[in-house]
Amino acid sequence: MARSRTVFVCSGCGADTPRWQGQCPSCGAWNTLSALTAPAVRRGTRRAAAAGAEAVPQSLASVAAAGEERLGTGLGEFDRVLGGGLVAGSVTLIGGDPGIGKSTLLLQCAAALAARTPVLYATGEESVRQVAARAVRLGTSGSGLALLAETAVERILEAAAGARVLVIDSIQTMATGDLEAAPGAVTQLRESTARLVRHAKETGAAVLLIGHVTKEGVIAGPRVLEHMVDTVLYFESDSGSRFRVIRAVKNRFGAANEIGVFAMEERGLREVRNPSAIFLSRSGEPAPGSVVTVAREGTRQMLIEIQALVDATQAANPRRVAVGFEANRVAMLLAVLHRHAGLALHGHDVFVNVVGGVRLGETAADLAVVAAVVSSARGVALPRQLVAFGELGLTGEIRPVPYGEERLREAAKHGFRRAIVPQANAPRQAIADLEVMAVARLDEALAALG
Ligand code: TYD
Ligand code: MG
Repeated sequence: MARSRTVFVCSGCGADTPRWQGQCPSCGAWNTLSALTAPAVRRGTRRAAAAGAEAVPQSLASVAAAGEERLGTGLGEFDRVLGGGLVAGSVTLIGGDPGIGKSTLLLQCAAALAARTPVLYATGEESVRQVAARAVRLGTSGSGLALLAETAVERILEAAAGARVLVIDSIQTMATGDLEAAPGAVTQLRESTARLVRHAKETGAAVLLIGHVTKEGVIAGPRVLEHMVDTVLYFESDSGSRFRVIRAVKNRFGAANEIGVFAMEERGLREVRNPSAIFLSRSGEPAPGSVVTVAREGTRQMLIEIQALVDATQAANPRRVAVGFEANRVAMLLAVLHRHAGLALHGHDVFVNVVGGVRLGETAADLAVVAAVVSSARGVALPRQLVAFGELGLTGEIRPVPYGEERLREAAKHGFRRAIVPQANAPRQAIADLEVMAVARLDEALAALG
């Protein structure tokens, strides 16, 4: 007989400890530990259940040959972030600010999927009438879609018998009767999620969890949930913009950092199949401080405009502000510009902005950031048909970036005529209608700007 075990879980960081303490030994927060009694489980059974079968060895070849069963969601951009559709038996967590479109997205998918397979949409936030009203607004009949307004995990799991897709809106409203803690408490989040994960692994149903994001930008009830699920997707958006970017921050079944792009419209989310077109919405005459780069997000290239503004400072310390790009990296690029190109900006504020609300995590944008800063500082606009990418090293060298040729082809496809790229990224064969200027050092790159 196994005994049930009590652990104390921190509501701040989710760490557990065997004894109660006033302060969490992991994150140092005070009075955040509360008791969680783990249900008694016979040794070995939990793992066997998680595997969805008796725990007997199987040959790798036979398992691999079976492959993954994928279910298209009806939205190509969503399938793309998932790595090619929903995987049977997987658990996906979708996080984002309130009102960004999480319920809208999943209701659209659930309604589309319900035409082909049994789907249960469990809502703990809205009544079934409210969900139905949204479905009407979305213009979807959703016939075949089962709705359930419920917050008790046990009852949801009962109702989900037979469903191949289960949507939980939201995980913070769910609770299991076995725990006393209120819904939303870390202990509840953890246990509710654990049961849903077990359900997914045992029945092969795909489970989609909606999670709210706190002000600090993490899914409330923090990291624990990210570890427990297979895939974590986050909504990103510029405030006020109608475009929505969904990014895979973790994916056991696809590329991390893959993004899907949508526009929020009157009748729900519409997929944007050619995101370069929206990120590049430049109009009018070319202006100083604007440069286009080719970023790679997940498995695709995208043309993204980077803007810089260099202005005489009014303060004792000049400001360095970056939106959509790492601020420390901007400071580093400015130091390299000073040291290796003689451009001193100590008396100037420097602002860098990535247009369209995307966040660039790549060093490949270095060259475009530097070019935008130089263009703004000189007050000279760059040619409209120019793109630049490349990493800038501390010694002033321009370093190669992955997928150079793919990036150049994407630029040519969108009508760009000239590209400044690292020497090692020069294509082996000429690309039609694209003049490639391969540079090895910062001074050569700045000379190429004209
Ligand atoms: P919602 O999906 O409820 O957000 P979340 O579940 O992430 O909190 O989205 C709500 C917002 O989307 C709301 O401000 C209205 C807007 N919206 C549209 O613009 N068009 C639509 O068709 C729908 C359903 C919502
Ligand atoms: Mg919602």
